[in-house]
This record gives sequence, structure tokens and C-alpha cells, in this order.
Amino acid sequence: MQTTETNLILIVDDTPTNLEVLSEALTDAGFEVAVATSGESAIEQVEYDPPDLILLDIMMPGIDGFETCYRLKQNPRTKDIPVIFMTALSDTVDKVKGLSLGAVDYITKPFQQAEVLARVQIHVNLRNLNLALEEKNIRLEQEITERAIAETALQQLTQDLEQRVLSRTQELSNALYNLEKAQVQLVQSEKLATLGQLVAGIAHEINNPVNFIHANLYYVSRYTQNLLELLNLYQNQLPNATPEILAKAKEIDLQYLIEDLPKILSSMEVGTERICEIVKSLRNFSRHNEAEVKVVDIHEGIESTLMILRRHLEAKPNQPKIQVVKEYGKLPKVECYPGKMNQVFMNVLSNAIDALTEAMENYPSYIPSPRIWITTEVQESDRILIRIADNGLGIPENIQKRIFDPFFTTKPAGKGTGLGMSISHQIVTELHYGSLQCISHPGKGAEFVVEIPIQQPHVCHTGLVKQKFLGSSIPVMLNL
Ligand SMILES: Nc1ncnc2c1ncn2[C@@H]1O[C@H](COP(=O)(O)OP(=O)(O)OP(=O)(O)O)[C@@H](O)[C@H]1O
Ligand SMILES: [Mg+2]
Repeated sequence: MQTTETNLILIVDDTPTNLEVLSEALTDAGFEVAVATSGESAIEQVEYDPPDLILLDIMMPGIDGFETCYRLKQNPRTKDIPVIFMTALSDTVDKVKGLSLGAVDYITKPFQQAEVLARVQIHVNLRNLNLALEEKNIRLEQEITERAIAETALQQLTQDLEQRVLSRTQELSNALYNLEKAQVQLVQSEKLATLGQLVAGIAHEINNPVNFIHANLYYVSRYTQNLLELLNLYQNQLPNATPEILAKAKEIDLQYLIEDLPKILSSMEVGTERICEIVKSLRNFSRHNEAEVKVVDIHEGIESTLMILRRHLEAKPNQPKIQVVKEYGKLPKVECYPGKMNQVFMNVLSNAIDALTEAMENYPSYIPSPRIWITTEVQESDRILIRIADNGLGIPENIQKRIFDPFFTTKPAGKGTGLGMSISHQIVTELHYGSLQCISHPGKGAEFVVEIPIQQPHVCHTGLVKQKFLGSSIPVMLNL
């Protein structure tokens, strides 16, 4: 705050005596004093050396005190300098007019020195206080601005930080996702390599001897027939058999043998035919060497899968048979990775069987006739749809969202790996450019809809064979 020693008072008066009297009194009181004898010179002087207070006479030649005051108050640089009017004792009108023009006070002539000093002192003090307050205000405003800037910077920093945390989290979850995917493929490949080779190996090993037996059974039947005819001839031509022959015929129950042998042979033929079919299915299912796109009959793949799962569909003690209702449409041959597609059918059908079996075990009366529906159709002439639905307990909504996540399972430890659906999804969407959807209303079963193009886009456009997801061509066989 300024002290009184440094406070400058400008006295504006055209009467030298007044100037003199006031100058002296103010100088004696410790003020610095400047004088002006007209309004114009006062305004000029205030511009280059602003005082802390102005004592302004009203009646002056040129512009009078009111006009001078008015102009000073119009100028932003001088408007805050306090003005005290000097007026005659009786001029009430002047006093009011001066105050309304912005003067802070008035002093009356003839001057009472003590009063002048007291009023000047008060207003100088007020002025000093005002200035100090203004300064503080400015500093406060500066501080507020600085704080606002700091706050904005802090907010920016926080935002940057949040952004970095977000993108880092995203990177990490991407990495985790990729890791899980890689792990799934690894687990899958290992499982597939072992199971697939085993199945393909067994199929191969069985194939030759079974074919051999099956082919020879024809001759065995013919030869047997011939022998039986010969025997018949003997019996007719030589009716009196020796006692030894009669004893042997009795011992082996010849009559029954003659009747039963052809039946046995024909059931053996049926049996070997069945084995041949199973072997064919196994080979078809594993499509051991087919890591490339092939044009195949999708129904054949579904049939092979059903054949392999046949045992699980059969009736068990206290459990009815699971019926498979097929509504096959007229499908063209489809370009796909057959082994992989079979793997999808296997996974979806296994889940349906698991769901029905679980429902039958836990709520025997709930599902009196367990069923799986398999429907196929052509969709908009360039895609096929395969729907596999069951009438099990269905999938609750919160679980539906997670069934395609790797390792998600609701089955007890050791029963499910939680990979079936995630792998199937990958096979259908990534490998075949298709879609795999799950539709389920809890309590009303579940339906899985596979949609794939009839022709794989990469093959028909570029003629190239896609090189991804080819870790192994053998599907997983979970419940074999
Ligand atoms: N038809 C269905 N009915 C009811 N729930 C189903 C059906 N299909 C899938 N699910 C649910 O989805 C989950 C995930 O299925 P997924 O095939 O991925 O794994 P999993 O069958 O548990 O194990 P695995 O890897 O051995 O197949 C299952 O645990 C089950 O809860
Ligand atoms: Mg499964």
C-alpha cells in the first residue's frame, strides 16, 4: 500500500491564493502536491502523472470543474482517481451535481484546514485501500487463471493417462485373446493329432481284413450251400446210414445245423456289411488327408457323424432312445474343409446329446421323447443352412453370451473342456466365411444354425488354397 509521503494530490483552481493555501497545508501534512490552474491543463497533467486525489474547483475559466470531472470519469485511465469538489458553503445544488458526476466528496470555501486535511486523508486512505484491493484482486484473478490452467493440464494429463491405460488394457486383452486362441489351437491340434491318427489308423487296419472277410463270406455261403446240397444228396441216395454216422448226426443236431447255418452266414454278412459301413464312416469322418478345400456332400458328413455317435443315441436303462429327425433339403455339393465341418457337426451334436442326457438324468419326466432335429436348406442360392436343434433344457441367456468363449463350460471337470463351441465358431466363421448362431429359449431346447457359402470366396476368385487353421485336419471326437 502506498504511504501518505508518496501520495500525490493535484489541486485544480484558478485562484492563486487558494492554490497557495491548500498547497502549503497539504505539503505540511506530508503530501506531494501538484497544481493546475484550468480544467484543460488538469486533464493533460492527470494523463501523464496520475495523482492519488484531485481537489477540483468548480468555477474556472475554460471548462469548469463539472466538465473536467465528467471528462476525467469518461477516461478509463483516470476514472478511478477520487475527485473532491471545492465549493462555496451555500451551493447545495453544486454539491449534489458534483457527487452525481462521480466526485467522492466536497469541501467548502472558505477552507477549514483541519477539515480539508481530514477529508483528503480519508479519501487518500480509501484510494490506497482500493488500489491495494484491486492489486489483490488482480493477483487473485491471476491465481485463479493459473489454477484453471493447472487444472486443465491436470485433466488433460488424467485423460491421457486414462487413454493410455485403456489402450494398454485393450492391447493386453487382445494379447490374452490371441494367447487363448493359440492355446485352443495347440490343445486342439494335439488332441486331434492323437485322436485323428488313432481313428484313421484303426479304420485303415480294420478295413482290409473286414473287406477280406466280407468278400469271402460270399464264397463261404456258396460252399456251405454246396456242401449242404451234397449232404442232402447223400441222405437221399444212401438212406441207410451206418450207426456211427447216425450217432454223429445226433450229436451235432444235424437237422438244426442244416437250418441254422445259412441263417448264421447271412447274419455274418449283415454284420460285416455294418462293419464296412462304420469303417467307411470313420474314414469319411476323419478325412485324414484332407487339409484342403474339397467339394463334398454335406449330408454324408452329417451321416458319418451320426454313425459315430450312434451308441450315444441308443436307449439306456431308464432312458428312451434319442430320436434324430432329419429334414434334409436338396443341397448341392459344397466347397469346404470336410474334416473341419464334420468336427463342427460332431461338437454341436455331442452338445445336444449331452444336454438331452443331462435333462433325462435330472428331470426324467420332463422330456418324454428326446429329439434332435437336423434340417438343411439352401439359402439365397449361394449359401447353405444347417440347423441342429434339440428339445433339452435350453441355454440360459447369461450363458448364451459365453458359449463361444474358449474354455467356457458348464459341465463337470473332466467332462467338458469348453472348447467345442469356440473351435466350431472359429471353423465356421474364420475358415469358411460363414456364421454360427445359437438360438435358445430356456426350457425349450437349443438350436445351432450353421451358415456357410456353397463356394469358398478365396477359391473361386484366386484359385488359391487358404493356408490358415490347418494345424490338423482331424476333428475332435469328444465322446468316442
Ligand atoms: N445344445 C445345448 N444345450 C444346452 N447347453 C449347451 C448346448 N450346447 C452348448 N451348451 C452349453 O455351452 C457350453 C459350451 O459348449 P462347448 O461345446 O464349447 O463346451 P463343452 O461341451 O462344455 O466342452 P467340450 O469342449 O468337451 O465340448 C456347454 O458347457 C453348455 O453349457
Ligand atoms: Mg461340447
